Formats: sequence, C-alpha cells, structure tokens
Amino acid sequence: MEKIGFLFDLDGVIVDTAKYHFLAWKDLAEELGISFTPKDNERLKGVSRMASFEVILEIGNRQMSQEEKEAYCTRKNSVYLNYIDKLRTDEVLPGARQFLEAAREAGIPIALGSASKNSRRILEKLELTELFDAIIDGTVVSAAKPDPEVFTKGAEALGLPYESCIVFEDSLQGIQAGLNAGSKVVALTTTVSRDKIEKLKANKIIDNFAGLEIDDIIAL
Ligand code: BG6
Ligand code: MG
Repeated sequence: MEKIGFLFDLDGVIVDTAKYHFLAWKDLAEELGISFTPKDNERLKGVSRMASFEVILEIGNRQMSQEEKEAYCTRKNSVYLNYIDKLRTDEVLPGARQFLEAAREAGIPIALGSASKNSRRILEKLELTELFDAIIDGTVVSAAKPDPEVFTKGAEALGLPYESCIVFEDSLQGIQAGLNAGSKVVALTTTVSRDKIEKLKANKIIDNFAGLEIDDIIAL
C-alpha cells in the first residue's frame, strides 16, 4: 500500500482555542473603544496574529504604526497565554486524541500544520507532543493559509509527496490551503458552518473525530 501521512491543523481541529483568542482580543478591542463581537471573531479563524489585529483595526476604522500594532499583538498574546496555561488535557476535541493514537499505532506519520506561534506550548499542555513527528507552525511559516506552505512543509518534513498526505482542517482558509497543496482534505465542522464548508471541495466532511476509523480515511 502507498505510504500516507496526516497533516493536522491545531486550533479548531485538536482543541477549541477560538474562545480564548476571542476573550483576549475583546479585552484589547474594548481598551481601544472598538466593538468586537463573536461574529467578528469568525473572521479570525486560521488567520495569523497580526492579520487578526488588522481585521479588528479595520472593524474600528483605526490605523496604527507597525510598531504600535506589534506592541498590541504582544500584549494580546500574554493575555491569551494566561488562558492557555490553564488548558486542561480534557479540552482535546472529541475523539481527536484517540484518532491520533490510532494513526500512530497504524504507523502513519503525523505533522502539525498551524499558523499559531503557540503551537508547541499548546501541544505540551494537552500532552500530545509525542504523537507528532514534525511540527510546522507560525514560527517557521511565512505565507498565511490559503497559501499551501504550512502543509507542503509538513509533507516535506514527513518525507512524503503532498498528494500522499491527508489534511485535517476546520477553517475555510485552511481547507483551501490543503487543497492548494494537492493533498486530500478532511474538513471539520467545529468552527465554521457546514453549508460554508460544502462550497469548498473537501474530500470528506466530519463533525468531529468520535468514532472515526483510520480505514475510513485511508480509503479516501
Ligand atoms: C490560528 C488560529 O491557528 O492561529 C487563529 O485559528 C490565530 O485564530 C492564529 O490568530 C495565530 O495564533 P497565535 O497563537 O500565534 O496568536
Ligand atoms: Mg483551525
């Protein structure tokens, strides 16, 4: 059988961190007198830290120097990390840990492909680090999803062609990034509504990993 690899996004696929990003951004937005709602937060999924802040500034019709923006992003991250440091291992999304363990047992190499610069810290908190053969995150990737860079680097790190990899993603940009990499994509409906996801060409759509068998994915 042809060798395959799995490429996992982190936020919204393995753990729901969007609620913590929201709380941290909301603090900052309030301070700047910008109204920031959960609906606005939808626009930040899969988007880098700086690009997220730029969306918030756009909502508030505000402009800032690069230096000021960087200072706000640093502050937002320290608030966010207060939540991350309290992350519990039972916050791993339904079935995700079991699915990762089953993949490992089946000898399938696994890489992380996330925009987050906090990926390693989050995996450590969730006690998942050992399940990954490679970690490609916001510290090593320069192009944002839907650019395929994060997943092409993941496939390269696993020593596999892009077409032999299966991407697990929740955000629209991320799903598109996987497709742009030439990989198969399993889309999760954890953070974006199914009707929006259905407009893209994902190979499979699932609500979560509960009950998902490795063979269902290998067959794609
Ligand atoms: C993505 C999240 O995974 O990482 C985004 O979906 C987030 O919401 C981005 O902005 C960057 O995360 P961090 O942890 O580097 O601020
Ligand atoms: Mg995501």
